[in-house]
Amino acid sequence: MVDDEEQVRQSLARMLEAIGLAAMGSASGAEALAALERHRELILCIVDINMPGMGGVELLEHVRAQYPDVGVVMLTGVADVDVATHCLRCGALDYLTKPATLDEIRLRVTGAIERRAQELEARQVHARLRERLRELGRRQREAVNDGVTMLAHALEARDSYTSGHSRRVERLAARIAVQLGFTGDALAAVELGARLHDVGTIGVRDELMVKPGPLDAEELEQVQSHTLLGERILRPFLTGEPMVLQVVRSHHERVDGTGFPDGLAGPSIPLPARIVAVADAYDAMTTNHAYRSPCSRDEAFAILRDGVGRQFDGEVVGAFVKSGK
Ligand SMILES: [Fe+2]
Repeated sequence: MVDDEEQVRQSLARMLEAIGLAAMGSASGAEALAALERHRELILCIVDINMPGMGGVELLEHVRAQYPDVGVVMLTGVADVDVATHCLRCGALDYLTKPATLDEIRLRVTGAIERRAQELEARQVHARLRERLRELGRRQREAVNDGVTMLAHALEARDSYTSGHSRRVERLAARIAVQLGFTGDALAAVELGARLHDVGTIGVRDELMVKPGPLDAEELEQVQSHTLLGERILRPFLTGEPMVLQVVRSHHERVDGTGFPDGLAGPSIPLPARIVAVADAYDAMTTNHAYRSPCSRDEAFAILRDGVGRQFDGEVVGAFVKSGK
């Protein structure tokens, strides 16, 4: 009970005891807060609205913020009914008008204690539900990660070039993306897309992937289909990751519109795919292949610059060159 008048506190205490409740009194808001801090077993505050110093409304706000499990019942003079209704909106469980009768105390205080118990239970149910949802989300993310890792391993098991290639393209693409201002989830999507960009080659005949000579029309179609196949393989895992799917589908588009599979041009090619196209080409040029020797870094940069406007996006090549300096 928080009331600056001793008499009120005494009479309230007697009535609360009469209905089987133990009570303690505080003469001010500050005293009440100190008591709540000391006595964690307290479950309900009966708070006078008009007190010198910290008023009842202010105390209600403190209690709600610092001790959300403690219920508050306001104690008002007849003239304070408007304030009391305001307090209900601010989280008070009920209010009593002075002088309160025993019956009123029994009704309102026991009612408030029941409501507080219900509120606590509802809060616990909510907390359990939230925890369960978090757990489900975590498991789903784990399942997606497991699936993606499995695919990445399957891809890397294909040959040692592919293995190193995916990881190098991932690092290079990340470097360009950072230079272009990508952060957080968008950066992670570019990295994952780069790592998996060639996952569709799982479905392409091995000899075509390393064939040095020109490909016939059927073979070319096979090789090019790795973009669409990759997207199809990943789509069930990555419905919430459109950027990753864009990279896998569109990393062979050319800015002049002559790439595959969609013949997209310029800015209609998603930026993450334009980034991976540059990283992919650079890595292919600078690493050892079965059928040709690698270019130097400067040679590769020169070829990328030369391809700006035809194969590559100028901004992306610029960011790459800058990030390599
Ligand atoms: Fe590819």
